[in-house]
Amino acid sequence: MSADFPSSLVLVGAGKMGGAMLEGWLGAGLEGRAVTVIDPLPSDAMSALCKRVGASLNPKEPPAVPEALVLGIKPQMLDAAAPTLAPLAGPNTLVVSILAGKTIANLKARLPNARAIVRSMPNLPASVGRGISGAVASPEVTDRQKSMADRLLKGVGLVEWVDHEDLIDAVTGLSGSGPAYVFHLVECLAKAGEAEGLPADLALRLARATVEGAGELLHRSDLSAETLRQNVTSPGGTTAAGLTVLMGNEALEKLIAGTVHAARRRAAELSG
Ligand SMILES: NC(=O)c1ccc[n+]([C@@H]2O[C@H](COP(=O)([O-])OP(=O)(O)OC[C@H]3O[C@@H](n4cnc5c(N)ncnc54)[C@H](OP(=O)(O)O)[C@@H]3O)[C@@H](O)[C@H]2O)c1
Repeated sequence: MSADFPSSLVLVGAGKMGGAMLEGWLGAGLEGRAVTVIDPLPSDAMSALCKRVGASLNPKEPPAVPEALVLGIKPQMLDAAAPTLAPLAGPNTLVVSILAGKTIANLKARLPNARAIVRSMPNLPASVGRGISGAVASPEVTDRQKSMADRLLKGVGLVEWVDHEDLIDAVTGLSGSGPAYVFHLVECLAKAGEAEGLPADLALRLARATVEGAGELLHRSDLSAETLRQNVTSPGGTTAAGLTVLMGNEALEKLIAGTVHAARRRAAELSG
């Protein structure tokens, strides 16, 4: 899927996620002049960026209805922002929302003229251009708009499309919340190393670099995670001894299944 960037784009909410997206788009060739940023308290860096690339920041007059409207505000800000947003979403505008828990129906209720809505769920590594977003399109989204949304979301990493909106809750439970699970794995590895006699700071450095390095290897390799694991596990060796604990009786598998399930259920509860 590849498409042109929209000829006009309004980004509402240029915080961590919205700001990272804007930087990604500009890096991928979006003309700054095509962008209007609306954010009541933009950071100094955001103000400087807009000035440098010729993007309009908080114009006095409301901008014309754009080809794409990207919502990067916090979900709890949606009601307060709705009066500003509603006139910007025309019947032909592609609306891309990254608001956790806000359904397409919810967005349509706040943006009465909007028809084409893409709801997506990015994750924290988007802030370093290495996120993965799950996305779902309302039936009114055209093929061209879907390609455009794909390109916009790829500004901060990979994109996976799902056909049913309910699956966004499962995406949230896995990749949305997943970075925190991995951070906790680092904490657990570090504590375990300490328990085996390593100084705390050394254990933390070892744990952190291990997860970073394994992640980079996964990123660069064509091999599956399973093959990478098997390749590093000699029969009767140390890794095999460790994995016997982790994998025996599917110990970690069950724990992770319960973890993702709880997050998915909570995402469903919060949606609306
Ligand atoms: N961070 C993540 O890992 C992550 C992951 C998945 C999804 N998301 C979603 O991404 C969205 C943004 O999260 P974030 O972490 O980037 O939050 P953030 O850094 O707080 O950014 C939100 C921005 O919106 C601005 N804003 C508030 N009210 C506004 C209004 N009425 N009009 C225009 N701008 C307004 C905020 O300004 P002030 O600072 O002045 O309030 C802030 O700059 C959320 O909906 C979240 O669900 C985030």
